[in-house]
Amino acid sequence: MSITYNEKNRSFKLTANNTCYMLQVVSYGYLAHVYFGKSLPDDDLTYLLRLDENPFTPETNDRDRASFMDTLPMEYPVFGLGDYREHAISIMDKNGASTCDLRYKSHKIYNGKPKLEGLPATFTNSDDEAQTLEVVMEDKPAGLEVTLVYTAFERLDVITRSVRVKNVGADNVKLTRIYSTCVEFNDDKMDMITLNGSWARERAMERCRLHHGKQLVDSMRGESSHQSNPFTALCSHNADEDSGEVYGFNFVYSGNFVSEAEVTQHKKTRYLMGINSCDFEWLLEPDECFTAPEVVMVYSDSGLGKMSRTFHDLYRNNLIRGEYKDKRRPILINNWEATYFDFNAEKLYQIAEQASKLGIEMLVMDDGWFGHRNADNSSLGDWFVNENKIEGGLKALVDRVNSLGMKFGIWFEPEMISPDSELYRAHPDWAIQVKGRELTLCREQYVLDYSRKDVRDYVYGMMKKILDSANIEYIKWDMNRQLTEVASNALPRERQRELWHRYVLGVYDLMDRLTTDYPHILLENCSGGGARFDPGMLYFSPQIWCSDDTDAVERLKIQYGTSMCYPCSAMGAHVSDCPNHTVGRSTPFTTRGHVAMVGTFGYELDVTKISQQDRDAIPAQIEEFNKYNTLVRTGDHYRIGNMFEDNMWDAWMFVAKDKSEALFEFVQVIGRPNERSRTIKLKGLDPDAYYFEEATPDKKLSGAALMQCGINIGGLWGDYQSKILHFVKA
Ligand code: GLA
Repeated sequence: MSITYNEKNRSFKLTANNTCYMLQVVSYGYLAHVYFGKSLPDDDLTYLLRLDENPFTPETNDRDRASFMDTLPMEYPVFGLGDYREHAISIMDKNGASTCDLRYKSHKIYNGKPKLEGLPATFTNSDDEAQTLEVVMEDKPAGLEVTLVYTAFERLDVITRSVRVKNVGADNVKLTRIYSTCVEFNDDKMDMITLNGSWARERAMERCRLHHGKQLVDSMRGESSHQSNPFTALCSHNADEDSGEVYGFNFVYSGNFVSEAEVTQHKKTRYLMGINSCDFEWLLEPDECFTAPEVVMVYSDSGLGKMSRTFHDLYRNNLIRGEYKDKRRPILINNWEATYFDFNAEKLYQIAEQASKLGIEMLVMDDGWFGHRNADNSSLGDWFVNENKIEGGLKALVDRVNSLGMKFGIWFEPEMISPDSELYRAHPDWAIQVKGRELTLCREQYVLDYSRKDVRDYVYGMMKKILDSANIEYIKWDMNRQLTEVASNALPRERQRELWHRYVLGVYDLMDRLTTDYPHILLENCSGGGARFDPGMLYFSPQIWCSDDTDAVERLKIQYGTSMCYPCSAMGAHVSDCPNHTVGRSTPFTTRGHVAMVGTFGYELDVTKISQQDRDAIPAQIEEFNKYNTLVRTGDHYRIGNMFEDNMWDAWMFVAKDKSEALFEFVQVIGRPNERSRTIKLKGLDPDAYYFEEATPDKKLSGAALMQCGINIGGLWGDYQSKILHFVKA
C-alpha cells in the first residue's frame, strides 16, 4: 500500500517509490506537515513537530494559540489566525472578513487518481499505478469544506496535490486565494532554482540561495509566460546534476501563477505554489465547488538529473495523451521563417514539392492564410481562407500536397481578435476589455473573452469548417499576446476577478473539444515561441514550440532549461536558415540538425532557396534523426555540459531504459588554439557492461570506465562544431 493511516497518532504516510510524505492531525484538528523526502521505515515522526516545546499545543497552553499557529509546520496554512507566514488560502466571508480556519473532518484513501474537473492533470493508466488520499478540512463558521487531494505514484518519486473547495453553508463566500500546495522544510539552507526568460530567451536557469523573507517567481500575464515558468526546484547547497537532495515543483496550469519560498524566523522554509492571488477572486454560492489545479512534486536524492528524468517519465506516460503520445512525430517543414506573410498556394506547393523529394513528411502553413492578413495587423478571428493567396482554395492545396505523399498542417491563433477584422466589427464586445477604457494593443491585436461559451463556440465553428474542408493532420495553436484590461462584458460585477482563471478554463475547454473531435490531428502549442510551455498545455498537445529563437547555440541554453522538467520528446525544434533570423549567427547545417534532433525535429526555411550543399545534406540528416528518435523519445536524458556555467561547449546523452545503447551529443561552441582534447565523463550506462562506439566496434570499454574516466573529445575545427557518438552494448 502506498498510503497508510496510523490511527494512534492520526498520521498519514504516503510512499511514492523511494519517497515518503507525511502529515498529521494534531491538537484541535489542525493539520501539520511532518516530512517529505527519502523513504523511511518509521510511521511516527511526531517529534519533528516540536509539540513538546514552547509554545506547546493549544491543549496544554491556549493562552497563546497565535504563537502555536505561527510555529507549527502547517500542511495547508490559512490566513487570519496568527500564522504570519505566507498562507495558502484566504476568503471573504458573508460579512466581508478574510479569516479562514480549517480543521480536520474526515479522510479517505483509494486506488487510482481522480480527474480534476475542467483542468488538465496527470493520470494513471491503471489503478495500481497510484493511490490517492483525500483529507477533508472544514471551516464551520464560513460553511466551507476544503479537500486536500494527494496522489502518490507507486513507481515514480512523485506526489501530486490539488485542492477542492465546496460551499456547504447557506451564504455566499468568496475565495480570495486558493493555492494548490504548501510544503514545510525543516531547514533554511537551500537553493532555489527557477527558469526565467524573455521572448527568444525562454527558460534560462537561475540558482539563488534562499534568505530570510519571501522570494518568488510568478506570472500575472494571463499565461505561464516567457518571463518565468511555473517550475521551481529547492535543493541542498551542494546539490548538482548527479548528487544532493532536490525537490521539484511544477504547476499543471497555463495562467497566472505564483511559486514562493519563505524562510521564517525559526530558520525553516515554507514553499507554496498556486494560482496567483493578485486580482483573483472566486465567488462560491451555496453548493458550488472550486478546484485548484494540480502541482506535481518530485523528490530526488541524486541531484537535478534524476529529478528531471522523473518528471520526463511522468509526463511521457501520465500527462501527454493522444495518438502521437508514443509515436515518432512527422518531420515537418514550416513556412514561417521561409516566407513570413509573403506566400501563396503556388509558393507553398513549391516548398512542399522540393521538401518531399528530400524526405520531409509534412508541410505546415503558418500565419497569413486567412481573412486579408498580409502582416500582423489584421484578420485574427476571420478564420476563412484568403483565396487571393490560396488560389483555388484550401482543399485544392492540401490535395496537391497530399499527392506528393506529404501531410498538411495549419496555423491558428484562436484566442485572438484583430481590430481590423470582420469578427471585431460584428462583435467588439467579445474582446476582453474594461468598459469605458481604451483597449491596449499588443502586436496590433486584442484577446477574445474565452470565459464566454458563445465566443468559444463561434470560433470553434469557424475552425471546424476549415478542418472539415480538407485533410488537415496537424495544428499549430499560437497565442501571441498577454492580457490587459482584464474584465468581461458577460460577467457580473462580483465575478469580474474570476476572468483570469475563467479565460484559462475556456482555453482548456476548446482544446479539449478540438482534441476529442479530431483525435488524429497532431496539436502543437505555441505562444510567441515558448511563453506557454507548461504541463497544462502538454496535457492537450504532445509537443510545444520551444522558442522563436532557432539559433543552434541559443537553443543549447533554451533546451537545457526546458529539460529541467519537460521531456525532450515535447520540445518543438527546427533546423532554420543562416544567418539566423533572430541573432544573425551562422552555424553549420550539421550542428543545427544535431541540436534540433533533441526535440520533435523539422525544418523552418525555404528549401527551394538554401544552398545546394545544405539541401543535399537533408536526406542524411533525416536518416540520422530517424535512427535515434526512439532513443530520444523514450530514453533517459542526461545533461553533461551546462552553458549557463561554461558557454564554450555543451554535451548531453540519451540512454536506453535497458542501457543497451546510448546517444552522446557534443557541441564545441568556441574553438580554442593549442588545447588538448576534452575529457567528458559519460553518464547513465551499465557500469558492468562493455560498450563500443558504432564506428569502432573493436574498441570496447566498460560502462564503468566510460563514466569514471570518460572519453576524449577533440579534433573539431572551428566554432559551433558538433559531434555525435553512438555507444552500443557489446
Ligand atoms: C509566433 C510563433 C511563430 C509564428 C508567428 C506567426 O511568433 O511563435 O512561430 O507562428 O507567431 O505570426
